[in-house]
Amino acid sequence: MFVFPRLRTVQRRLFSSLQPEAAVAQQYRPSEAPYLTDTFGRQHNYLRISLTERCNLRCTYCMPEEGVPLTPHDKLLTTDEILSLARLFVSQGVTKIRLTGGEPTVRPDLIDIISGLNELKAEGLQSIGITTNGIALKRKLQALHTAGLDSLNISLDTLDRHMFEIMTRRRGFDNVLASIRQATDLGFNSVKINSVVMRGTNDDQVLNFVAFTQDSPVTVRFIEYMPFDGNRWNKDKLVPYRELVDRIETRFGRLTKLVDDPNDTTKAYKVPGYQGKIGFISSMTNHFCGTCNRLRITADGSIKVCLFGSTEVSLRDMLRQGYSEGELLHYIGAAVRKKKKQHAGMSELASRKNRPMILIGG
Ligand code: 5AD
Ligand code: SF4
Repeated sequence: MFVFPRLRTVQRRLFSSLQPEAAVAQQYRPSEAPYLTDTFGRQHNYLRISLTERCNLRCTYCMPEEGVPLTPHDKLLTTDEILSLARLFVSQGVTKIRLTGGEPTVRPDLIDIISGLNELKAEGLQSIGITTNGIALKRKLQALHTAGLDSLNISLDTLDRHMFEIMTRRRGFDNVLASIRQATDLGFNSVKINSVVMRGTNDDQVLNFVAFTQDSPVTVRFIEYMPFDGNRWNKDKLVPYRELVDRIETRFGRLTKLVDDPNDTTKAYKVPGYQGKIGFISSMTNHFCGTCNRLRITADGSIKVCLFGSTEVSLRDMLRQGYSEGELLHYIGAAVRKKKKQHAGMSELASRKNRPMILIGG
């Protein structure tokens, strides 16, 4: 694993005003995590790390048709850099890590990363998850499970093959369905399907997905369509989650409301008697910023404190310039303290500059 270099003299001079490093080495319980607590008292114990900007699909809601300019390979975090940053965040109270992308399975060192993260379970990490499109997952699932992966979120927006090819601009529907089946057979702690709902495109699929939960022990989560650079978002394509609940109850009868965890972004429900569950992620019409416990690291190594915030600090550059753990934490803490109370609201977000989703990582 990457070891932080000793402080160089010049940096010692430069950062002589920073807090003592002695405080850094010790383990913090979440309630004592000063660097990861923001000015509104939110403690961040959930880290999402994007492994790559590449993807084998081209989902319309995620990236522009022409693709996105990719960061050169040598500017992306290496395996060791990812693991050392993960270790640093776990030492500050992070208990949950999710690997995102782009598509994380295109990264050849994925198993090594998960094995490395698995070792952090001795230091306080409780759960390792991945968000994937499931296209190239089937052959890797057993190895991922053995390496220590706990949970899987698989993106699938429709149960109709033709519509899948329109929405993702690629083939592969059968691979995704097979991956979902295999994942539930392997007995992962949790298998979720992420479905971004767009009016006039796939909103007619919602009832099919609910029916799918009858015999499948998955949670299907319907996600409100969010605006990002290049995804042609408009308000009319957004289907508010309340409308979906109404439509589902009209067809399936009254849903049972399940208890949500305090930091959960999903409002969870169930059709009585069905094996699986359904959930709604209402980022646009009913945001959950007040209980947000997430931080993100982009594939090029920037910390992003809010999905919709433009503030980014390059941890990669600091690592490569030999900053110490104490210095890194100083800058991480400064970024966390800049986190806003909540995102700016629908219309404002739509007109603002942000990375395309593929470059953030969900
Ligand atoms: N709105 C909502 N969710 C999105 N995702 C990607 N783009 C958007 C968007 N514009 C979600 C996908 C995928 C995850 C990586 O991010 O559902 O599961
Ligand atoms: Fe790839 Fe996921 Fe984006 Fe689709 S949503 S293009 S699968 S990263």
